[in-house]
Amino acid sequence: MKGSDTVNSFVLKGNICCSDTPDKLRLFDNSYLVCLEGKCRGVFSTLPAEYQSLPLKDYGRNIIIPGLIDLHLHAPQFAFRGIGSDMELLDWLNTYTFPEERKYSDLSYAEKAYSIFTEELRRSATTRAVIFGTIHREATQLLMDKLEASGLVTMVGKVNMDRNAPDYLTETTESSVSETRRWLSESLGKYQRTKPIITPRFVPSCTDELMTALGEISVEYRLPVQSHLSENLSEVAWVKELVPSAETYGHAYEKFNLFGRDVPCVMAHCVHSPEAELALMKKNGVFIAHSPDSNTNLSSGIAPINRYIQMGMKVGLASDVAGGADINMLRMMAESIRASHLRWRLVDSEIPALTFANAFYLATKGGGEFFGKVGSFEPGYEFDALVIDDSTIATPRELSFPERLERLPYLADSRHIRAKYVFGQQLF
Ligand code: GUN
Ligand code: FE
Repeated sequence: MKGSDTVNSFVLKGNICCSDTPDKLRLFDNSYLVCLEGKCRGVFSTLPAEYQSLPLKDYGRNIIIPGLIDLHLHAPQFAFRGIGSDMELLDWLNTYTFPEERKYSDLSYAEKAYSIFTEELRRSATTRAVIFGTIHREATQLLMDKLEASGLVTMVGKVNMDRNAPDYLTETTESSVSETRRWLSESLGKYQRTKPIITPRFVPSCTDELMTALGEISVEYRLPVQSHLSENLSEVAWVKELVPSAETYGHAYEKFNLFGRDVPCVMAHCVHSPEAELALMKKNGVFIAHSPDSNTNLSSGIAPINRYIQMGMKVGLASDVAGGADINMLRMMAESIRASHLRWRLVDSEIPALTFANAFYLATKGGGEFFGKVGSFEPGYEFDALVIDDSTIATPRELSFPERLERLPYLADSRHIRAKYVFGQQLF
């Protein structure tokens, strides 16, 4: 990514935490975090002489962590977040989701909805996100304009669907391809922080012809790919019927070169992934966007995330709004830990539950890797940071720094974020 014209050099002081490995956090009490031209130079207990002339912001006892990464969410679905968790995926799509997404053919509705969404995301703990729009080119362009103006760094997809949806949300194969090409010609190179991502909704929504064309487009423009994978048992069975030649659901993407072979790829969910699918994902470096709130709301199941971490898979955390009800990625950390406790107790005691350190890693460095060197305060990482003021989360106890950190996923939200920096630029 190109540096922004407002990229800065400065020093922040506070109680600093970032991930080292998936299992290990690094904590720095009362230390200095250096940003030079948008990139992190490291954390220091005494400020080195070479940085002493930089402007310094002392945040006192506030907690400073890397910005959180939401690896998968649906901007148009923000309008009905918190509504409709009484159905499983396929009924939920037909009953709640498709009727809402239909509305984005109307640009005045899209303007209203995407203004609300973008402002809430800007205020949230999220600094970078990988986002689904709808099939509508103009509304998707509008969403990208708003996200660019927000200062967040995002990847945004015009959704492709040419089968198995109501007529009002089904493109012809030709129009799906030509609208995608037009959208790319209008958005490529237009933005500094907002990048298009190829977005077949999921295998049931896209014919073989459309998938073939999207695979070709992603390679032609070297664009990343996002979609859904092995989220729900009925969905997995349906894909087996639709693409009988594919060994697994993942192979149905691989067949059309939409599974990370040549360009980066992120797949949401992987709750029910068989071994052959996981092996192919590992080989191709496909990212998994773990969406625990969504998986619970839609009764999809509980993905064995600790197993994926132990296997060395690339995993990050996601809200999957509106499968998930909230864009607060701190809350998603709590949801990932809670879901893993239930899985350990009820499903498989061989796979340990996630720790706080695991969840912190997923929300920062794990998902950040999809954007490059993002999600850590190690030297060379792009500088995304949150300053969190937890003083209003009242307690009579004197909490240690690890205790203060540990309660954030359960108790903190955008009201506690005092300052936010994305690629060296302060958003507020
Ligand atoms: N699979 C296909 N479309 C969707 C969607 O909008 N949300 C979720 N959670 N899964 C999907
Ligand atoms: Fe989704």
